Amino acid sequence: MKLSVKGFDIHSGLLDVTEQRSVLDAVRSVVTRAPFFRPEMPSGKRMSVRMTAAGQYGWYSDKEGYRYVPTQPSGQPWPDIPLEVLEIWQEVTGLERKPECCLINYYDAEAKMGLHQDRDEADMGWPVVSVSLGDEGLFRMGNVTRGGKTESMWLRSGDVVVMGGDARRAYHGVDRIRAGSSKLLPKGGRLNLTLRVVD
Ligand code: SIN
Ligand code: MN
Repeated sequence: MKLSVKGFDIHSGLLDVTEQRSVLDAVRSVVTRAPFFRPEMPSGKRMSVRMTAAGQYGWYSDKEGYRYVPTQPSGQPWPDIPLEVLEIWQEVTGLERKPECCLINYYDAEAKMGLHQDRDEADMGWPVVSVSLGDEGLFRMGNVTRGGKTESMWLRSGDVVVMGGDARRAYHGVDRIRAGSSKLLPKGGRLNLTLRVVD
């Protein structure tokens, strides 16, 4: 089922359990080559979300600010974006252009992500596609400027969100996760993949 909330296109239940498992296996293989780390925000505080990435670029943050980087903190390149993940991009966007970054976020029971815009990409005309796996996450959708009315929705394992049009520049975040709401990840928690065109 597809619904639109404040311009965010939500394909709920797009991936069945078999597809979720195959994406999860692909993510695990990325994580063995590119381990999770907790980026430091410009304020000096560490994020509660653990991150890694696949593709030509990964997203990185430290005291110098938010940016895309061609290598992991170890100096190694990021692993390729798994085909299973590129297929989801293809299915929901139909675009010729492929994403250059698949950011992988892991939320444990306490992790959350404050309201923010995705704006480190050179051309914000391309959509961002988000794939949720594991425990449910309360996704908050806002406006293109800070403030104003927001709407929230629980994203479930297998849900895919397309942020395009005005929603591409809209503030969004994850208030909390519902620990234990999914059995997909044996140790619990939530994985979110976001596919981005960077250059
Ligand atoms: C993000 O905005 O990078 C992540 C969104 C999510 O975890 O659903
Ligand atoms: Mn974001």
